[in-house]
Amino acid sequence: MATIAMSILEDAEQALSGQAGGALEDTMSITSFGRFPEDAPADKIPSEKSSLTKVNQKITTASLREMKLGHEPITCLTAYDYATARLVDEAGIEMILVGDSLAQTMLGYENTLSVTMDEMLHHVKAVRRGVKRALLLADMPYGSYQVDDGEALRNATRFVKEGAAEVVKIEGGEKRAELIRRIIDAEIPVCGHIGLTPQSVNVMGGYKVQGKELDGISQLMRDAVALDRAGVACIVLEGIPREVAAMITAEVGAPTIGIGAGPECDGQVLVFHDLFNLTFAPAAKFVRRYGDVAELITRGVQEFRADVKSAQYPRDEESYHLPKETKAGLDTVLARKRALRG
Ligand code: KIV
Repeated sequence: MATIAMSILEDAEQALSGQAGGALEDTMSITSFGRFPEDAPADKIPSEKSSLTKVNQKITTASLREMKLGHEPITCLTAYDYATARLVDEAGIEMILVGDSLAQTMLGYENTLSVTMDEMLHHVKAVRRGVKRALLLADMPYGSYQVDDGEALRNATRFVKEGAAEVVKIEGGEKRAELIRRIIDAEIPVCGHIGLTPQSVNVMGGYKVQGKELDGISQLMRDAVALDRAGVACIVLEGIPREVAAMITAEVGAPTIGIGAGPECDGQVLVFHDLFNLTFAPAAKFVRRYGDVAELITRGVQEFRADVKSAQYPRDEESYHLPKETKAGLDTVLARKRALRG
C-alpha cells in the first residue's frame, strides 16, 4: 500500500511541479508563542492614581525604597517559567521572585531542601526571558550559601551572570549579616528573609508561625535590624504575627515584604500556585485565592479527551487542506490509476 501511495504522490508532484499554495497557512509552527511587542504593553498595566512607579518604568531596588517612603504598597509574586512570568510582569507586579518553592510547585519535591543551584538557574533563565519591567529576584537554595562564603558568593554571582537576576534572596537574620555584606560588596543586591524560613523546617520542627513569645520577638527585631544595617534591598517577613511585622516595618529603612505577616508590611508576596489553586493541598490562612486554575485545566482536559474519543475533534475547519489545483491534479492521477487497474 505504501508504495502505491508513494507512486501516486510522485506522479502528482510531477504533474504539479512549480505550483505554490497555502503559504500563509503552512507557516504556522506546531506551538506558536507570541513574542514581545515592540513596546511594553502599557495599556495592560493597571496604573493607580497614586502610583509612584510609572507604567513603563523599570523597577529597581531604588523604586522599592521610593515606594516605602511614599507608602505605596509593593506587590510581589513568584514565577517559575516564561509564560507565567510574562503574565505576571505585564499585569504590573513590581517584584518577581523565582522562589525555591519551585521545589514543590514545579518539581514535586516534598520541601525546599532538595532543589539545587542548577535547577534554580534553569528556572531563573526562563523567567528572565519573560520579564521586562519587574525587579527579578532569585532565591538562593539550601546548601548554596551555608557551607562557605566563597561558594555563596560564586553561587550568587551565577544567578546574576547566567540568569540575569537583579537581586538574590537569602534566608536568615543576624547570623547571615556578614555574608550578606560580602555579597552586596560584590555589587549584588540582597533580599533578606526572616520569620518562618522554610529551609530551617527541620530545626523549627515544622512550618510554624515565629515570634509569638517575647524572646522570639526580640530575636526577630535583632535579625531585621542586622539585615537593615547590612544594607539589604528588602526583607521578606514570613509567618509572623501582624503586630511584630508592623514593629519591624516601622523600625527598618528597608522595605518589608510580608507573607502571612499582616497588612502593615510595605508590600505583600504570595506563591503564584497558591493564588490559583495549583497546590493540591488546603491553603494556609493567609492565602487568598483569585481563581481555580486546577478546575479550569481539569475541565478542559476532560473535554478534549471526550472530543477525541467521540470523533468531535478535529473538525474539518481545524484541518489543513490541499490547494484547489493540487486537489484537482491528485484526483486526475487517482482516476487514471483506477482506470489502468481496470
Ligand atoms: O520560595 C518562595 O516562594 C519564597 C516566598 C514564599 C517568599 O521564599
